[in-house]
Amino acid sequence: MCGIIGYIGPKSVVPVILDGLKRLEYRGYDSAGIAVVDRGEIRVRRVKGKVKDLEDSLREEPLQGTYGLGHTRWATHGRPSEENAHPHKDCSGRLVIVHNGIIENYLALKQKLRAEGHTFKTETDTEVIVHLLEKYYRGSLEEAMRAAIGEIEGAFAVAALAADEPDRIVAAKQGPPIVVGLGDGEFLISSDINAILAHTPNVVFLEDGEMAILDRSGARFTDFHGVPKAKTVERVSWSPLMMEKRGFKHFMLKEIFEQPEVVRDTLLGRMSLDTGRVMLDEIGIPEATLRRVRKAVIIACGTSYHAGLVGKYLMESLAGIPVDVEYASEFRYRDFILDPDTLVIVVSQSGETADTLAALRAAKDRCAAVLAVTNARSSSIAREAYGVLYTNAGPEIGVAATKTFTAQMTALALIALYLAQVQERMDHAALLEFIQEFQRIPYKMEKILGRAKAVEDLAARFVSFSHFLFLGRWVNFPVALEGALKLKEISYIHAEAYPGGEMKHGPIALIDEKMPTLAIVPEDRVYDKMLSNISEIKARNGYVIAVASDDDARIRERVDAVIAVPAAPPLLMPFLTAVPLQLFAYYIAAKRGADVDQPRNLAKSVTVE
Ligand code: AGP
Repeated sequence: MCGIIGYIGPKSVVPVILDGLKRLEYRGYDSAGIAVVDRGEIRVRRVKGKVKDLEDSLREEPLQGTYGLGHTRWATHGRPSEENAHPHKDCSGRLVIVHNGIIENYLALKQKLRAEGHTFKTETDTEVIVHLLEKYYRGSLEEAMRAAIGEIEGAFAVAALAADEPDRIVAAKQGPPIVVGLGDGEFLISSDINAILAHTPNVVFLEDGEMAILDRSGARFTDFHGVPKAKTVERVSWSPLMMEKRGFKHFMLKEIFEQPEVVRDTLLGRMSLDTGRVMLDEIGIPEATLRRVRKAVIIACGTSYHAGLVGKYLMESLAGIPVDVEYASEFRYRDFILDPDTLVIVVSQSGETADTLAALRAAKDRCAAVLAVTNARSSSIAREAYGVLYTNAGPEIGVAATKTFTAQMTALALIALYLAQVQERMDHAALLEFIQEFQRIPYKMEKILGRAKAVEDLAARFVSFSHFLFLGRWVNFPVALEGALKLKEISYIHAEAYPGGEMKHGPIALIDEKMPTLAIVPEDRVYDKMLSNISEIKARNGYVIAVASDDDARIRERVDAVIAVPAAPPLLMPFLTAVPLQLFAYYIAAKRGADVDQPRNLAKSVTVE
């Protein structure tokens, strides 16, 4: 939920920290701060607002330093304010920290530390950490960190420096991510690799219970007891260029347009037109285990939950197994029942969503296997699952998920096909035909993207509306849910999605000229039923926009506007019907002047509960 960064090296530290914070800002952006060490003194600057506000402040009153820490915040404890912004100093001003996570026992610690004479200046949970460091500091920041985290309960990705221990940054991880960058004479810690890539592609991912100690000679790693840890250095293939907007006004629009490539990259090497087979050995789950699978449970949050719902329809239709889809935040607290023949699939683009990680841990030893679908290599969810199928979407900077949603549907479709293949539920001809049609989807997505201007012109007519209804049935109902979420989260317009069949059970009472409906109506098994829903809405002066197939001649006289998409097999239509809804939400939000890439109150990765 927050972004932390630290740098030691020959470069001027303030620009490095600021650039890193900009690349982390999608994780939280209600306040930001920096701490640098200058001639033995710790200098801190914090602002309520975005990194740009911090940059403006530093331009007016520069700070100099040779190493330091930075933080961009998504407030959990303590309202967004300069005082509550990180970094936080101890009473002496000789120690400073930045933190991502939640300290669950902070109130008890705060009372105890106050009783021991510590003065607190903020409302945050984080401040207890720096006072614990102060309590235990006897000249070794590393030892003080170990003692401090021994008293903490909760989740923390924390980094600290001490004025009396020059050129050293100490970090500790329990929950939220910490990545260490190993450059040429320069070393970084960060919440995300994209703040490191501008300096080095060589990274180490800290695991829970581990610490990193950085100085000008390098980085070493230990566990929380001080036992040295040998860590694997990974070379990240993403280029810094992939982080840039490449001429698009917003990252979100760029990522919507990247979707055809993302589908191709996620399919690459995993299915063959020659053999008509799906190759998913990489997931690391033996075929014998998959042959035993009699049920699947997909667990996720937000957009990933919607992708999971699409996966449900695909797995039921292709692999012939029953599938439940669960909100992770609900599943983890239920007295859920799983059996040894159930495959649990957790879906999370960030691989760090706290509720999804908790659900994974709860289910782990009570099912056949847990398979993670994630976009983040070496993420907590990737590491703790039994098997992993990575989506190859590249970094998604826009807080609103788009290309990772499509990538997740691609991965879930591959899993459905793989289960069908392993359990011999589909004959070879049917599997080959599906694979052939799947290969054509990116091209069809490109055709839709080529019509973006028509969607933009239509969206312009709805900029001032306050409510929207999204309808879909069968495999497109999850797409209606996703379309409503997109509109909500980036334009702040209230939007609801319903299965078309539910309209007559209440929602139709909402229909009037102020409540437009966006209906997803491809020519599939529920087409006629959707036409009936549309007629019921039109009969009540409702305005209806239809997302329909190019060659559908009937729809145009039934609705007020049509966004046409190429036809494809019904089970693959979500890949095509989702794109206009993403564009529709994007253009309305952009025309409303909303902060499309960093919508208010949101964060890209919800690593707290
Ligand atoms: C979607 O646009 C939102 N950013 C949010 O619902 C997101 O999908 C959800 O928080 C799950 O994130 P994850 O995929 O990283 O687990």
